[in-house]
Amino acid sequence: MDGNGRWAQMRGKPRAFGHEAGVEALRNTVRGAGELGIKWLTVYAFSSENWSRPRSEVRDLMTLLKIFIRRDLKEIHREGVRVHVIGERESLSADIRSLLEEAEKLTVNNVNMNVVIAFNYGSRDEITRAAIRMAAGISAGNLDPKAVGPEDFEQYLDTAGIPDPDLIIRTGGEQRLSNFLLWQAAYSEFVFFPFFWPDFNKSSLVEAIHTFSERERRFGGLDAKVKAS
Ligand code: IPE
Ligand code: MG
Repeated sequence: MDGNGRWAQMRGKPRAFGHEAGVEALRNTVRGAGELGIKWLTVYAFSSENWSRPRSEVRDLMTLLKIFIRRDLKEIHREGVRVHVIGERESLSADIRSLLEEAEKLTVNNVNMNVVIAFNYGSRDEITRAAIRMAAGISAGNLDPKAVGPEDFEQYLDTAGIPDPDLIIRTGGEQRLSNFLLWQAAYSEFVFFPFFWPDFNKSSLVEAIHTFSERERRFGGLDAKVKAS
């Protein structure tokens, strides 16, 4: 969800105005994805690198998360959406942490759709934490390092139990992953939009899915026609 700040700047407004508009776009996107029958939607809400922004902007982003959860959790729950949170939790303030836990607990039995909020998330941090936990298992003698494969390792990631993304969409014109789901994106398709996140809506989502449907995914194999010949 990139480009909130530039969207606001273009209108001569403070960046916070863009973040607020970004939350509105997020709200519409979750709704739109549900209507389209999408089962898993992951949003990159706050990265482990976003702490380097001015303190006032970090505070604005934290406040917006609180407002989003307080205001939208009920509707999300009513719609049968299950909320998952990935990212480093320990260093978050207690109030943010308990809101995230509340969202997960309240929605744990919902099955219509899954929304994964990446908050204080960075892939390198996630992979490092996973490696440390796995190493602890090995040194405790609970795990044989010779028998460990990628399917075992990924059980230690924050995304254990969450399917890898088929499609990753980034708005705002930048064409990079910025520490998002590095492991999980191994075979994801990418769609980049030049416009800013607050302008994203259900029809952008439909357009991205249409582009995705025209891609040929081979997962390192051969395409069906070549294989048959
Ligand atoms: C939203 O856009 C991203 C976050 C939620 C942190 P930005 O805040 O990165 O906006 P730009 O890229 O500066 O325009
Ligand atoms: Mg940005």
